Amino acid sequence: MTLFRPSSLSLAGAALALGACTVSTSFDPGEIDFEPERPETTTPDDPDPYTGDDEIVLEAQSNFRTGIELHQKVIWRTCTPNGGVCHNSKEFPDLRTPSNFVNAFGANCNVQYGEFESVYDRCERPGDRFRIAGGGLNSGQIEIGWIESIPGDIFEGEGLPPEDSPGFHIHLADPIPGEQTEVYTTGEFERTFINEGKVEDFTFAEYTTLWYVLPGRKHLIGEVREYQVDQVQNLFTVGIIEGDANRNEVFGAREDDPVHLLEPGSPETSYLIARLRGTMLGEEIPGSRMPLANAPFTIPEMLALFCLVEGFPADGTEADLDRGIDYANCSYSEDPAGLGLLGEGVTWSARISKILEFNCGGCHGGANPEAGLTLVGDEVYARLLEPSTQNPELPLITPGVPEESYLYLKLIGDDSITGNPMPYNPLTGEGTLGEAELADVLTWITNGAVENE
Ligand code: HEC
Repeated sequence: MTLFRPSSLSLAGAALALGACTVSTSFDPGEIDFEPERPETTTPDDPDPYTGDDEIVLEAQSNFRTGIELHQKVIWRTCTPNGGVCHNSKEFPDLRTPSNFVNAFGANCNVQYGEFESVYDRCERPGDRFRIAGGGLNSGQIEIGWIESIPGDIFEGEGLPPEDSPGFHIHLADPIPGEQTEVYTTGEFERTFINEGKVEDFTFAEYTTLWYVLPGRKHLIGEVREYQVDQVQNLFTVGIIEGDANRNEVFGAREDDPVHLLEPGSPETSYLIARLRGTMLGEEIPGSRMPLANAPFTIPEMLALFCLVEGFPADGTEADLDRGIDYANCSYSEDPAGLGLLGEGVTWSARISKILEFNCGGCHGGANPEAGLTLVGDEVYARLLEPSTQNPELPLITPGVPEESYLYLKLIGDDSITGNPMPYNPLTGEGTLGEAELADVLTWITNGAVENE
């Protein structure tokens, strides 16, 4: 196999140029009371402040005057404790620096990748193309849907191997022309690069083996013998782009309006915000909600983010983060309470399981959950009816009786609990759920804690 990795060419979706950070400070000691505790930075084009009386807007304005403050206090926080939610989960871009945050404006959401189930169709990228030619077959270039390597012994039987047979699997967008179902030849992987303004196709990887073409002719299995294992490993390392990364036969990148991580002027269609809420324009967004752990967004934080995105210019730079967020002209300032992250209906699947996933999953999830307690996934409901470890006399949830539900007692920080109130916040040592979420958990338990849709 040969790998060709042109170093001077830029791949689509690579980082944008970074804008320089400028803060201009106007300071006249004759007019301004000097307050060493609270240095104020203002820029000449700061918007007029919000002067209404909505408490949420006022709180947002005083805590997050500028985009940079929002980044420091909220975005960075959600990326940091416990090794960093953004960082240790490949689905999310790393937003820990202001320049990465700014670059998320207008960047296609396809830069994210991760578990295939959590890829949103409209964030899929145009796939690389595969070509096979030889032994009487000529496929031409066909877009790759997805690839998979299934380890195991090579197929030795008669006819075609079963669909899940060990080997290197390629799923294509269109069928391979012709009739032939077995051919020993070289498969080529091609990508379009933009090189100094010229669009060029390159073969960036090859694999020579025995290929089987399965019925339907969109699924190929390449044989992997022991001496070929490394070559197949390399095919994965070089990063073949999958056009149908979530494997549902919708090639999202073919839709003509890409979704951006953050859409200047339009929080409702910004992918990162959709991941926070679990929906975009009423459509469910796959994947767990973000941030997964310890730092759920409060309503003032959501308002600040919405108003920042709504007021962010299409050609914005880091300097625009330094400007005041325009709460006065922000359309969301009219009804900020409506920005809660929560759906309707206090049911297990629509609401309660999501509250747990969103607020607790970062610690009570994965291979090594805190206190041995997993609060995400299919098994959670059954576990909740079992005794607590810290207080085996109480189950985590007693349907109908919140005061005998140890999980609820942990949420309200009851005197009887062992350890900390939950959700534990490692930064402050304490933590509470939002009022609305806590109220919903209470309602759900009181109403019998049923595992309803
Ligand atoms: C930052 C990490 C973290 C977060 C977030 C977190 N927990 Fe915990 N949880 C812990 C740790 C550590 C323990 C054990 C020490 C203690 O009790 O404080 C624990 C213990 C528990 C226990 C006791 C387990 C038992 O069987 O007795 C419950 C119940 C619990 N957490 C529920 C929750 C719920 C519900 C949430 C979300 C609303 C949550 N936790 C969020 C870290 C976390």
